Amino acid sequence: MPIPKSLIRPLVRELHPYVYGEQPKIKGMIKLNTNENPYPPSPKVLAAVKAAVDGRLRLYPNPTAQVLREKLAKLHGCHADNIIVGNGSDELLALATRCFVEPVVTRRSASVVKRLRGTAALPGETVIQYFTPSYSLYPVLADIHGAVKNAVPLKSDFSLPGMAELKSGRSKPPDPGCAGGFAEARGGTPNRWDFNAALTFVTTPNAPSGRGYSTKELESLCRAQKGVVVLDEAYVDFAGENALKLALKYPHVLVARTFSKAYSLCFQRVGYFVGHRDLIAALHKIRDSYNVNGLGQIGAEATLDDLPYYRANFKKIIATREWLSRELTKLGFRVLPSRTNFILVRPSRFSAPAWLQSLRVQKILVRWFGRPEVKDYLRITIGTAAEAEALVNAVRKILMQR
Ligand SMILES: Cc1ncc(COP(=O)(O)O)c(C=O)c1O
Repeated sequence: MPIPKSLIRPLVRELHPYVYGEQPKIKGMIKLNTNENPYPPSPKVLAAVKAAVDGRLRLYPNPTAQVLREKLAKLHGCHADNIIVGNGSDELLALATRCFVEPVVTRRSASVVKRLRGTAALPGETVIQYFTPSYSLYPVLADIHGAVKNAVPLKSDFSLPGMAELKSGRSKPPDPGCAGGFAEARGGTPNRWDFNAALTFVTTPNAPSGRGYSTKELESLCRAQKGVVVLDEAYVDFAGENALKLALKYPHVLVARTFSKAYSLCFQRVGYFVGHRDLIAALHKIRDSYNVNGLGQIGAEATLDDLPYYRANFKKIIATREWLSRELTKLGFRVLPSRTNFILVRPSRFSAPAWLQSLRVQKILVRWFGRPEVKDYLRITIGTAAEAEALVNAVRKILMQR
């Protein structure tokens, strides 16, 4: 029997949840769809986690992940008070939303407000702001919170619009039919960048484009923002530079990091923010008491004791990324330069969703997003060298068959 609709808040009833990457049920699939690391955690990490599976499981873990925060502080040259650890960085992105942004929607649903106002904020209204395309969780967090969103398109090559363009509100219109054509594809004008947004998320290097941004351009952006800026560096270990120093220099800048991607620890859900102690203290106030599970804390601590193992893996992944990019280019794919552990490619001959299906038949799972700005592209996670070779062989086979 269906439940009465009224039991659930209108906002939640109308919410479009985050779409997860598929978890394949068929055995033997090569899984290149969720940017997981193809290499296992270091043997020392596995040993530390296994050794912790004992009578301690009946106890609550350390509520503030104290030891882990101290180790992270040492690594980043700051104080443990500059760090908060979360159940994955996703939890912290959600906490930032709740901590820094005033919801505009209380009783009425977010979609009603969107219908009445469009996506642009009214002057002075507190908003969650991000570029498109970037991490698709940000708009969902805004919707859950009932906050106004401001999605501003990147340039057609997915680079950041310059400060002058953001200030004049004339970021370069996307090329017709090109990936950045989000606003045009909807027939609208791109939203104007809001320097007063309460919270701005920047994925750097970006996902799903893979493009890296320089610390210099990020610094200009941060300096111009009045509200909090979160630089989401989930993939930064695969890039040449990072912007951590901005979180230690500017009181309104936070850097988000995760153990999921570069440190092969998705399963354990550990991420963290670095930033000014007052912002961090505010975030601590609203988190769950024991938000980071004990085995996750132990796994992350052991990871920090074995960084050379991971740095060797970054090198392997980067080498495979460059090899795969060259091979797919030879096969007629347009491969965007990447500073991450995935590549965004525009396949040749037939559509991206058709390629998704053809590759699935070859037992290779990649990711396709239906969003207008990236619908012609596939995002491919960098696996092992053998997995990359299998992918190239599958692409050759498909091209011969069709
Ligand atoms: C840009 C970006 N930020 C954050 C995350 C979340 O990572 P975590 O596993 O730490 O929650 C992801 C995961 O896909 C991501 O792509």
